Amino acid sequence: MYSRIAGTGSYLPDKVLTNADLERMVDTTDEWIVTRTGIRERRIAAEGQMASDLALEASRRALDAAGVSASDVDLVIVATTTPDMVFPSTACILQSKLGIAGGAPAFDVQAVCSGFVYAMAIADLFMRAGKAKYALVVGAEVYSRILDWNDRSTCVLFGDGAGAVVLKPGPDPGILSTHLHADGGHHHILSVPGQVCRGGVTGHPFVVMDGGAVFRFAVKVLAEVAEEALAANSMERSQIDWLIPHQANIRIIEATARKLHVPMERVVVTVERHGNTSAASVALALDEAVRDGRIRPGQNVMLQGVGGGFTWGAVLVRM
Ligand code: ACO
Repeated sequence: MYSRIAGTGSYLPDKVLTNADLERMVDTTDEWIVTRTGIRERRIAAEGQMASDLALEASRRALDAAGVSASDVDLVIVATTTPDMVFPSTACILQSKLGIAGGAPAFDVQAVCSGFVYAMAIADLFMRAGKAKYALVVGAEVYSRILDWNDRSTCVLFGDGAGAVVLKPGPDPGILSTHLHADGGHHHILSVPGQVCRGGVTGHPFVVMDGGAVFRFAVKVLAEVAEEALAANSMERSQIDWLIPHQANIRIIEATARKLHVPMERVVVTVERHGNTSAASVALALDEAVRDGRIRPGQNVMLQGVGGGFTWGAVLVRM
């Protein structure tokens, strides 16, 4: 049995933070942010709004679109770097908020900006093994909580949001193949090195990044993993109907598309309005393109993640 995407959903917090707003907060300009990143605005979760709250709204929309009731979900995976708390997992909290039957496995995946792709790959393995029938896979982030709002080199890049898909079984794929990688040797180029310890946070609790190193690494591995996925399915680049790379930066996206010879008309781009929503970005972009009718049944969609760890991966799916 294969897994098919039965429905998608997403949710963005109401509060919009524009580049003009950031100009009033740190020494930056709209021009610098747009030319370096393509980002014009991002959403910021309200005080008290947690990753599970964003995940809840996105999940409800995905379940609606799939015509699947929450009580039928038998696997919940949440990809997040900004969980509600140290434990329990955000997936368990989401399971409870959705009223999904107790007993169904629920767990978080921590692969930073590759989180959604990792979660989809894991869910697909459960489905193929007959261990789950209706899987809810979510990427949800409140990244605004781990940003130093005085650090212009990082705070302009990220935003909050959630995206979700419901997978259900089918006789044909669906998910054609999944490809996950990590190289912990690069863990230092992007991290939040702080930790909860003895009642406080020790170390630096905000995102630190070597932007140039991240840029070069991301472009290299996104192109490589796309080629790997195509080769595994004996497909040509021209058979990719839609490329949905992690939405970190328009220049990374354009460089990846160029390497793969995929025209930008076939690349889904949301980074301009969402910023980098880490584990949520691919799921948010997928939902947007499904809902506005760009992605149609039968088309081949390449989902790609890359993020801290470093981690990277691809999911090639026939809609
Ligand atoms: N506004 C104005 N100036 C800034 C800002 C800002 N927000 N941030 C940094 N600068 C300054 C720096 O202080 C530096 O100044 P200096 O030269 O006087 O020291 C200068 O801009 C750096 O400029 P560039 O080298 O031209 O910057 P670059 O073109 O490398 O762009 C960027 C920086 C956007 C971070 C780029 O390296 C990048 O996109 N990297 C990828 C990072 C990324 O996307 N991370 C997301 C998380 S990772 C992931 O999701 C995979």
